[in-house]
Amino acid sequence: MSLPYSKKVIELFLNPKNVGEIENPDGIATEGSPACGDMVTVYLKVDKESLKIVDVKFKSFGCASNIATASIVTEMVKGKTLEEAKKISWKEVVEEVGGLPPVKIHCSVLAVDALQAAIVNYEEKMGIQKEKESTDENLIRKRLRHIIDPNTGKEIVGSNVIKKIDVKDGVINIILNMNEENQFANSIKEEIIEKLRYRWDVKEVNVSFERKNA
Ligand code: FES
Repeated sequence: MSLPYSKKVIELFLNPKNVGEIENPDGIATEGSPACGDMVTVYLKVDKESLKIVDVKFKSFGCASNIATASIVTEMVKGKTLEEAKKISWKEVVEEVGGLPPVKIHCSVLAVDALQAAIVNYEEKMGIQKEKESTDENLIRKRLRHIIDPNTGKEIVGSNVIKKIDVKDGVINIILNMNEENQFANSIKEEIIEKLRYRWDVKEVNVSFERKNA
């Protein structure tokens, strides 16, 4: 049985806009979907004066609905200020693509979440974020919850990959229940560091692996 996709979804899936990478992006985020284990990375270039998004690209390892919605959301935010871009919801994005089958709604959520996370990444890097919650274990878990372990397709938070989180005086130490030789170990480590290193009260993020040999 094939799913009823709108003409626009099919069109954008075949010819997506803004696919690719931006070299030295001002903001970047990779988010994974807990529903399907797929991932998308969003890259931003932001004008420092006007805080407008001057360029945005994405790389999707998701399905047709994710590619179509990431394409549309990147089109929608180009030229907008960060504040305007933050207000875009997955519902608007779904409307823009002419609707999605209910089982594919999470694909649009993934596209919007990745964009929002890239904005947060930029704001934290620049020290202009409004939210100044302190970085404790709970916040770290929340922040890392959309990192997927490609070995299992599951989120690293809540699936036993994170063995220990320790925060003291702005220094975060995270131990992963994973072998450092694992082919995805390094990229998971980098994603964790990227999501935490610019927080206003964080000085250092260390990620280590519980197991060293295969
Ligand atoms: Fe995974 Fe659509 S099924 S992003």
